[in-house]
Amino acid sequence: MSALAEDLIIHADAALDVKTGKLIKPVTLVVDDNKISEIKRGHSKVSGDYKVIELPGHTLLPGLFDMHVHLTSDSQVHGYKRLQRTSQRAAITGVRNAKRTLEAGFTSVRNLGAVGYSDIALKQAIYDGDVPGPRIFASGPSLGVTGGHCDNNLLTHEHAVTAKGVADGPWAVRAKVRENIKFGADVIKYCATGGVLSKGTKVGAQQYTQEEMDAIVSEAHLRGLTVAAHAHGTEGIKSAIKAGVDSVEHVSFLDDEAIMLAKKHGTYFSMDIYNTEYILGEGEKAGILEESLNKERVVGARQRASFGKAVKAGVKMVFGSDAGVYPHGDNGKQFSRMVKFGMTELQALQAATITPATLLKQDQKLGSLEVGKYADFIAVKGNPLENISVMEQVSFVVKDGEIEVDKR
Ligand code: ARG
Repeated sequence: MSALAEDLIIHADAALDVKTGKLIKPVTLVVDDNKISEIKRGHSKVSGDYKVIELPGHTLLPGLFDMHVHLTSDSQVHGYKRLQRTSQRAAITGVRNAKRTLEAGFTSVRNLGAVGYSDIALKQAIYDGDVPGPRIFASGPSLGVTGGHCDNNLLTHEHAVTAKGVADGPWAVRAKVRENIKFGADVIKYCATGGVLSKGTKVGAQQYTQEEMDAIVSEAHLRGLTVAAHAHGTEGIKSAIKAGVDSVEHVSFLDDEAIMLAKKHGTYFSMDIYNTEYILGEGEKAGILEESLNKERVVGARQRASFGKAVKAGVKMVFGSDAGVYPHGDNGKQFSRMVKFGMTELQALQAATITPATLLKQDQKLGSLEVGKYADFIAVKGNPLENISVMEQVSFVVKDGEIEVDKR
C-alpha cells in the first residue's frame, strides 16, 4: 500500500490533454495536497519540500476508468463452480482483484453487479485504507426478472436459489432500487435482456417490460443515482434507452434506430469487445457452459461490428471491459481492440478518462490532467497516440495524491 501522501514534482517526457489530444512536451506536474497545482511545459525546478519523480520516456495520462467490472468475481470460476462461492469468499477475491486493477492504471471503476453487497464491503475497505484499490462506484446486486440473466438459473426447482436482485413488477423494482440504495449502492444496474453467461436465457430477448424499466430509472434518478442496463438484444436496448438509462452495457445487436435513439437521449454505450477472446479461448476450462460458448460464437462478432457503427455515428462511448469474466489486470488489453474496431487512439483514451468522468458526474474532479483536479494519474512508457498497446503496461500510478504503483 502507499506511503503517507507527500507533495510531488513529476518530470515526464509528455502529458496528454485528453480533451484536445495535444501533448505537453516535456512536462512538469506538481501535486499539492492531493490536487494538481501546476502543469507546465519544461522540466522546471520548484522550491519547497517536494519529492521529485523522474519519468524519462513516459507519457502522463489521467487515471483510467473501467465502467464495467466485477471485482468480486474470479475469471477461473464460472458456471457451476460459482455455486461453491460464498459472498464472503467473493469479497476476498475482490481484494486481490482491486490491487491488480489499480496496478493496471485503473483508478476508478464502476462495479456492475456483485453477490451479497461484496462490492460495497470492498469499496469501504479501500476507502478506509485497509487494502489498495481503485475508487469504486458500486451497484450491489443487479436487478433482474425471475429466471432472467441477473437471476441464478443453475439449479432445478427443488434446489433453486433466487438471486438477491430479482424483482418483478414496477413497485417491486422500485423497492429493490430503494433497498440497494439503503445498503450503499452508488449506481443501479439491471438486466434488460438475456445474456451469454447465464443458463437458459435467450441473449437477444428482452427482459423487463417498458413499464418496469421506466420504474427502475425514475426511482434511481429521483434519488440521484445513475442507471446502467445490460442489453444485448435490439428491443431491450431501445426500451432501456427510452426508459432513460445513463448507459447501455454490451449493446451487441444494434440497429440504426437504436443508434438514433442513443444520440437523441444522450445515452452512453459501454461495449466489452475484448471479452469474447477470453470466453472463446479460455472459457471452457474456467467452467463456462457449452450453451454460453455457443451464444458467444454469435454475439462476439456482432458486437464488434456494432461497436464500429456506434463510433462512426458519434454515440458517446465509455470503456467497459466486464473484467471478472476475464482476468482483472488485463483491462488495458481492450484499448487495442477499440482502435482495431473503429476508434482513433485518442477516442479510445477519452472513453477511459474524460467521457466516463462526465457520465459519473465526476468531471470537475477527475478525467483530465488539469490544475485543481485530483492528483489522479498514470504514466506509460512511450506515446499511446502512436502505439495504443503501451496501455497494457502501466509503470506508475498516483491516486488521490498518493503513489500507489511504482514500477519504473
Ligand atoms: N456478462 C456478459 C453476458 O453474459 C458477457 C458478454 C460477453 N461477450 C461479449 N461478446 N461481450 O452476457
